[in-house]
Amino acid sequence: MRRSLIIFGLVFVGWMAVGAEDEHPSLELIYSGDRSGKVQPCGCPKNPMGHIGRQAAAITAHRASGTPGLYFDLGNTFYESLEVPTVLRQQWGRRAAIIARSMARMKLDFFVPGPTDFAAGLPGFYRLMEEAKTPVLAADLVTESGRQMFPGVLRFQRGDTTVRVVGIAGFRPAVDGVSNREPVAAVQKALAGAEPADITLVASHLDKKRAKALAKAIPGIDAILIADQKLHLIPDTKAGPVVVGSSKEGKHLGILSFYKRGDGPYVGGMRLRRLKGLAAEDEGAATELEALMAGNTFTYKIHGLGEEQPMDGVVAAWVKSYVHFVGKWEAEQGEAPPGYSGDGDFVGSERCGLCHPDALAQWKTTKHSHAYDSLVHFGQQLDRECIGCHTAGWRHPGGFSDPRAVGMLKHVQCESCHGPGKHHAQSGNKAMIIRGKAEAAFCERCHQPDLETGFTEASHMPQVKHWD
Ligand code: HEC
Ligand code: HEC
Ligand code: HEC
Ligand code: HEC
Repeated sequence: MRRSLIIFGLVFVGWMAVGAEDEHPSLELIYSGDRSGKVQPCGCPKNPMGHIGRQAAAITAHRASGTPGLYFDLGNTFYESLEVPTVLRQQWGRRAAIIARSMARMKLDFFVPGPTDFAAGLPGFYRLMEEAKTPVLAADLVTESGRQMFPGVLRFQRGDTTVRVVGIAGFRPAVDGVSNREPVAAVQKALAGAEPADITLVASHLDKKRAKALAKAIPGIDAILIADQKLHLIPDTKAGPVVVGSSKEGKHLGILSFYKRGDGPYVGGMRLRRLKGLAAEDEGAATELEALMAGNTFTYKIHGLGEEQPMDGVVAAWVKSYVHFVGKWEAEQGEAPPGYSGDGDFVGSERCGLCHPDALAQWKTTKHSHAYDSLVHFGQQLDRECIGCHTAGWRHPGGFSDPRAVGMLKHVQCESCHGPGKHHAQSGNKAMIIRGKAEAAFCERCHQPDLETGFTEASHMPQVKHWD
């Protein structure tokens, strides 16, 4: 029963638990990172990964499973960039508050900040952390006068395992009055004053290279958790288990499971995996595997937050209220500008169709020709963070820049791919229009690989083909 909870819905099979099937981990770390302010997936139909409500539900389920857990986040959580664009101030502010509130509901054990978390300044950061009711852990962040700003190390007793965690931000926040120490020195200093523990972790916003350097410089760390905007399916174990947070935008959780069977360091990663692969044929490998499995091991996996995962209803309602807020706020910003009616650089698909009737007819069979309706369906047609990929001419000179002014530029039109066509449509001059290329790179501006919808040239190109 308990076991079933930790294998919930693996999307990526890094590898499955290496321990015997019925063995419980003595401790699991459940962590996220690089949420970048995202609280929900874009809504893409194939594989809508992510939603902060699913993260909350996963953590609740894990707590209920009885497996001792440590729950945390590795930063770049509240905002997408180092500065909040003026026009998105209300929207991002509201969203950051919802993330903070959700963190409080998840009762995270600690939070290591990333650079974008300071986008609303130091007071803004403090306000969010107060709302999140989550301790900030950062041994390397200091005031100008060198005084440490947050706890550097925390100690937890989980089940019969003691864990100590050193937090390392690994950057100098772009706000006044804050500086940072060099990570190796900061970890050494934090550990020097700390009681020993069964497991020593560094939770950080370092990139992989700096994390490896840290592992090399300081022996005795069991795992360094990082969030470097990449999804690492396999931990780097050359210099101790260096693993990472989830992917960008809250689509996955990292899960690191420790199996305690005796004393000594925890071994796992590629080495265990390789031995498991060889054990059936290679007697030497089998013996080595057996010896390792008698001692302490760890396994690592990525848990995808796909649509099939349960959702925390309370957090989901907060997200819904945010979506509602954005629509309402945008609608109420002064008098609505007139809808775009062909007076700029874009002429709209119907006009192109006068000379390219076959292309127009083909286009009408594609989902591109009603992409805006998908936003309307979710009430998100005024959301500046959605509209760009579901229209033509968004924030383009000679296009439109107020969501209410979309007018005739709804949907993914000819000019979403071919660029503004006013001059070409007047002349038929092919030098005045972008031809484009039938390859994935041309589509990736919108079909970003991160969306994880399974977009490939082979599967998608034929559906939109209107050229020889
Ligand atoms: C007045 C007629 C006319 C209109 C309107 C028109 N085109 Fe064309 N288009 C042409 C002609 C003529 C060519 C060139 C054919 C040739 O030289 O091979 C062309 C070529 C193209 C090409 C190929 C360019 C290349 O380098 O091979 C694209 C793409 C294109 N048009 C897109 C559009 C789009 C998008 C619109 C609407 C914004 C549009 N056209 C509107 C007449 C028109
Ligand atoms: C301007 C942004 C944009 C560009 C550029 C773009 N797409 Fe799309 N595409 C979309 C959106 C948005 C949708 C979803 C439409 C909807 O709401 O149903 C979509 C949907 C599709 C679909 C339908 C998928 C399904 O679920 O059935 C195909 C196929 C597709 N695109 C192919 C392409 C190809 C191939 C290219 C490059 C040649 C391309 N797209 C370029 C935005 C874009
Ligand atoms: C980076 C470009 C991009 C942004 C930004 C974006 N979308 Fe999409 N969206 C796409 C693409 C591409 C697809 C098609 C995916 C596929 O099927 O391959 C899509 C598909 C969808 C669909 C599914 C349509 C269907 O076929 O049923 C919905 C709904 C949707 N998006 C809503 C949203 C919402 C809501 C937002 C803002 C929160 C948003 N999108 C932001 C690119 C984007
Ligand atoms: C999803 C992106 C996309 C959309 C939307 C789109 N096109 Fe294209 N179109 C392309 C690409 C890519 C090519 C070039 C393929 C190649 O030559 O490799 C192309 C080629 C063309 C050509 C040249 C055809 C030939 O055989 O030389 C014309 C004309 C054209 N498009 C017109 C249109 C018109 C008109 C519309 C709207 C009704 C439209 N396109 C919508 C991507 C798009």
